[in-house]
Parts: sequence; C-alpha cells; structure tokens
Amino acid sequence: MAHRWKNDLSWEDVTPEAVWLNRRQLMVGTVGLGLAAIAGSTFASELELNSWDDITSYNNFYEFGTDKGDPKRYAGDLVTNPWQVEIDGFVDRPGIYDFEDIISKMTIEERIYRFRCVEAWSMVIPWSGFELADLLNLAGLQSEARYVAFETLYRPEQMRGQRFPTIKWPYVEGLRLDEAMHPLTIMATGLYQKPMPNQNGAPIRLIVPWKYGFKSIKSIVKITLTDVQPPTSWNRLQPSEYGFYSNVNPTVDHPRWSQATERKVGQGLFARRIPTLMFNGYEEEVAHLYEGMDLTENY
Ligand code: MTE
Repeated sequence: MAHRWKNDLSWEDVTPEAVWLNRRQLMVGTVGLGLAAIAGSTFASELELNSWDDITSYNNFYEFGTDKGDPKRYAGDLVTNPWQVEIDGFVDRPGIYDFEDIISKMTIEERIYRFRCVEAWSMVIPWSGFELADLLNLAGLQSEARYVAFETLYRPEQMRGQRFPTIKWPYVEGLRLDEAMHPLTIMATGLYQKPMPNQNGAPIRLIVPWKYGFKSIKSIVKITLTDVQPPTSWNRLQPSEYGFYSNVNPTVDHPRWSQATERKVGQGLFARRIPTLMFNGYEEEVAHLYEGMDLTENY
C-alpha cells in the first residue's frame, strides 16, 4: 500500500543547505520531476522548501475570508476533533468514517510536492498523508463509480467567511476516478511532520500536485463516488475562467493573466519569475491520463 508513490523530491533536494548544490547533483536529485527549468541556469532556490511560515501564513481558504492572512488570523476557531468523513455513492461500504479510524488504517508518508496556485505563485511543501486510492479502496469502489466529489465542512459559527456569499457554500471539488486513483493524489493530514494547521485544511485535505491549487479542497467532510461529473466551486462561480480539469498548463492563460511563469513565495516580490512547467512538472507521471483530450478545450 505504501510504496506506489513516485517520490519526486527528497529532503536532500530541497533543504536550505541544498541551495548551492552543484548542478550535477541537482540533475540527479530531480530526474523524476523533469525540471526543464534546471536545464537553464536556474538556482536551486526554486527547489528549496518553503518555510513553515510561508506555508501557514499565505493561504487561500475562503471559509475564513478572502485575504491571504485571514486563514491564519481566523482558522484557530475551527474545532477539528472529533472529525468525520462521510463516504457514499458507488461504494460497497458507505458510511461515516471517523478521522482517527481512517488514519489508523493508513500508512502515513511524507511527500514533498510542488504546489502551483492559479494566481501564478508557487511553493514547495513537505506534506504528510496517504494515497486517496487507499481510502477509496477501503470504502470499496463499485464499477459504476466514474468521478469523485468532495465537500468541505459548512460551519459558519466557526468559519466566518461562510457568513458571506463569496461562493456557494459548502466548497466542493471533483476529480475523474483515474485522477483520484493516481498515486500522486494524496489526502494530506500534516505538513513539516506536524498535524495539519487549520489554515491549511485540517484535519484532512486533498492534494493533486499537477493541478492548480484550488482543486486541492480543504477540511473535507464528504466524499461521494458518482457516475456523472460533479460540480466544482470555481467552475460554478466562473465557468469561463475555471474548468473542471484545471491542470497546470503554461500554454493556456487564465482569461485575465498569463500562466507561463510563476513567482515562488518567500523569494521576495522582486525575485525572478520562473517558467511554469506543464502539469506543474509531473508531466511524465500524469500526461497519459489526458491522451487524446484537447487541453485547451478541457482547461
Ligand atoms: N479549500 C476550501 N475548502 N476553501 C478554499 O477557499 N482554496 C483553494 C484550495 N482549497 C480553498 C480550498 C486554493 S485557491 C488554494 S491556492 C489552496 O487551497 C491553498 O492551499 P494551502 O493554503 O494549503 O497552500
């Protein structure tokens, strides 16, 4: 169960000490990531882990407000213990699963992933978690299941952003079943080897590293296996800007800005922008999922 992930980055690649690693070492360390950027004269700082501070104080979590500082400011009120996740739809064992019970059955591993937001900034983050596939198998997939729908907690008493109709609450997201079963797709329960901070989606959130960050829904309370494509919050709000797939694709611009480059958070506002990679650098692992699809049409 534990070893199907392809570990694209290791601590040696990303610790701050690695900043001035020579290029040869870098090439060896990042083969799986296919970092085209490295082929140019790119500094290793692009691979440097973002600090705990970067990762936990610059967030999008509209349930707490739309400012990047709001989640850290207000997410402390959220009670995440006890926590339950309902799994229903086309599964053999539908029901309400206790978070503690889920994690006791999973192998928690650390994965260092690049994270690319649709707003054209990025981070490198050490998550801990388990494969979504393992959870779906625990519930028992039925043959009719073709998509996975996810839902975030709705609790306006503790999530002050939900008192305003910023989006239609609760936040919802979806994946095609093969995307959900891909070994890079994880349910994260922590970062930097600590439990998930509330502002990052405690206690359990999705991470799909080849898609824009908004696909990675936080504080999940419900997972439904469906046979039709589920609605997604951003697509519902602005279909011309946010499609169902939302794969990181530098050749398809957001209607209001370019997606060709990104700014790595923590490098200062005037740091050089870096080229965005197809599928956020995970092309080798995931391109086959979209063979034959027009990715301009299916953005
Ligand atoms: N999940 C919920 N429930 N609500 C949100 O507003 N924002 C998304 C995604 N998941 C969001 C969410 C967006 S736009 C991004 S960029 C990522 O969360 C940010 O994740 P992070 O704060 O862990 O970096």
